[in-house]
Amino acid sequence: MEKISCNVTDRTKSTINRRFILASRPINGDTPGDFGEDDLLLTDSKIPELKDGEVLFRNILISVDPYQRNLMGNVPFDYPSLPIGEVIPAPTVGLIMESRNKEFVPGDYITGLSSWQEYIIAPGHNLRKLNARGVPISTALGVLGHTGLTAWLGTTQFVDPKPGGTFVITNAAGSVGSLAVQLAKIRGHRVVAIAGGAEKTTFLRQELGVDVALDYKAANFHQQLRKALHNGIDRLLDSVGAYLFEELIPYFNQNAKIIILGQIGMYGKAGLKPRQDHLPKLLNSILYKDISIKGFQVDHHLDTYAAFLAEMTPMVHEGKIKYQENFVDGFEQLPKALHMLYNGLNKGKMIVRIV
Ligand SMILES: NC(=O)c1ccc[n+]([C@@H]2O[C@H](COP(=O)([O-])OP(=O)(O)OC[C@H]3O[C@@H](n4cnc5c(N)ncnc54)[C@H](OP(=O)(O)O)[C@@H]3O)[C@@H](O)[C@H]2O)c1
Repeated sequence: MEKISCNVTDRTKSTINRRFILASRPINGDTPGDFGEDDLLLTDSKIPELKDGEVLFRNILISVDPYQRNLMGNVPFDYPSLPIGEVIPAPTVGLIMESRNKEFVPGDYITGLSSWQEYIIAPGHNLRKLNARGVPISTALGVLGHTGLTAWLGTTQFVDPKPGGTFVITNAAGSVGSLAVQLAKIRGHRVVAIAGGAEKTTFLRQELGVDVALDYKAANFHQQLRKALHNGIDRLLDSVGAYLFEELIPYFNQNAKIIILGQIGMYGKAGLKPRQDHLPKLLNSILYKDISIKGFQVDHHLDTYAAFLAEMTPMVHEGKIKYQENFVDGFEQLPKALHMLYNGLNKGKMIVRIV
């Protein structure tokens, strides 16, 4: 897979800081993840002076993630929304420009939870220094960042392995899903991967080696699903919810373990169209098949980061885990990149590169 070098060394500091703030709450459209051009505003601000213990860094890689649309508000479920006027948060990779913190010197690459702006002043304690001579620094946002941690937690920490058992993964060609399918394979499962479109299912089969890849947009999806799940589902990692999760309920096996990590199929009105009530069927399965269902938010499990990096970094280094990164160039392209994510146009981890 193509790897693009993102190392940036230019330390010329601008006096103006561009940032994207939330200007208004999106009107909830029919397309999942809809928002309007005017909902995000590109504004300028001045860069303040550094205080003791702080560093100034320039964001050079900014992560684009589905939750950023949720934070804008007007989503059809409970989600804490960002106050109007606030900058959109994001994990980023930055280059230290100035430092009054003894742990960092100008030229260091760092990663941390930052936001959609070019320059940040921050205390050093929440930043992690990156080794620019090791794996590419962009991996700190994907395979070795929150995305990878989410996949690792969902396939290795919150479910016990059932070698030979069927592990179904939805959103399987996405940045979390494409890592999850590989981790599930490494632990000996038969992996059934579900994604949108023939290109993605071919990639899952040919590049990532899943056992079965199904296109949920194909006309014969239901028949294909029935064939692929002839032995039922033992493990499920689901980040779509809605109609797709409902399709899977009848296949849950005795003692199946279900992990819920997202609901991208529900974002927007389209996901909430009136449907049959599947709750009784689900509760019945949970009760009579001893099924366990667990959800999680990766931010609540950051204490596992060190263990995650210790296991994943060598695997990434040795090429045992494949990953894709989808770079979009230009700070002003951040909203477009978020739209691309919701329209399935990303190939792997969506990252906006500011060079
Ligand atoms: N719980 C946590 O802490 C946590 C952390 C990270 C991510 N997540 C969740 O994990 C999911 C994937 O996130 P990601 O960052 O890896 O993004 P991603 O999968 O790289 O990109 C989003 C993908 O979602 C799919 N999608 C969009 N609308 C859809 C719909 N209506 N129905 C089905 N699929 C749809 C598209 O793929 P197709 O072309 O295949 O449809 C698109 O490429 C999201 O639900 C996100 O909220 C949760």
